[in-house]
Amino acid sequence: MDLRGGVKVRLEILRRVNAQSEPYLQVIEYTPKSKNDTVAFALSEINKGGYRDESGAEVSRIMWEHSCLQKKCGACAMVINGTPGLACGARLSEINKNGVIRIEPLRKFPVTADLMVDRQVMLDNLLKLEAWLQTQVKINERQAELAYDASRCLQCGCCLEVCPNFYAGGEFYGMAAGVPAARLIAELAPDDGKALKRGYDKHIFEGCGKSLSCKSICPAGIETDRMLARSNAAAVWKRIFGRCQKQR
Ligand code: SF4
Ligand code: SF4
Ligand code: FES
Repeated sequence: MDLRGGVKVRLEILRRVNAQSEPYLQVIEYTPKSKNDTVAFALSEINKGGYRDESGAEVSRIMWEHSCLQKKCGACAMVINGTPGLACGARLSEINKNGVIRIEPLRKFPVTADLMVDRQVMLDNLLKLEAWLQTQVKINERQAELAYDASRCLQCGCCLEVCPNFYAGGEFYGMAAGVPAARLIAELAPDDGKALKRGYDKHIFEGCGKSLSCKSICPAGIETDRMLARSNAAAVWKRIFGRCQKQR
């Protein structure tokens, strides 16, 4: 493994002191310690202090969220060179464009400071969907496979960032709610979870345009198209088809 320091990169970081203040761009020259340095590592190094921006001003502590630093928790999601992703998974050597890396907060959520956003709307949407099991379930291998895949959702919000149909506070909840709902729908007994299935129909099925930008961006590699197909069948088509059968 090559641990030599890398070539200097120009980090353009969109900052803001708090939710009320105006955003500003701060440019910091950063020399990677190794070619494996990530955006998360660079932010941590800068926050140790002693860095100056291109105007010579001392760089104050950059606010950003993180926990695992292993692409497992989703906390460090931000927009890096225009694309949402995990700061702890974004290697400077692989993502810099002619030596420049632009780092911004996610845009679909209120910014609280610098790169930190308030993602409460994702939890609120899960609560509104009643995304929990009411009874104990026994699942078969096919259900378990989908439930396991869905359980890998990090609740990072990257899928919402690229979804053309999602906005915070809207009726469409996007795949950050659709994936956990898919997990539960896969586990439900056929007649269970009526409220969840109705909520899925209204807040996921009706609003999704099937553009699948969410699939290509998901840092957990979740196949959102497969989740949608299975949940649509179980929560929507079966119900509608069942109703038609009864009316005959
Ligand atoms: S589906 Fe993927 S992109 Fe969306 S919140 Fe879950 S892990 Fe993040
Ligand atoms: S398929 Fe398109 S509209 Fe549906 S959740 Fe994914 S990005 Fe949004
Ligand atoms: S810090 Fe947990 S995913 Fe990046």
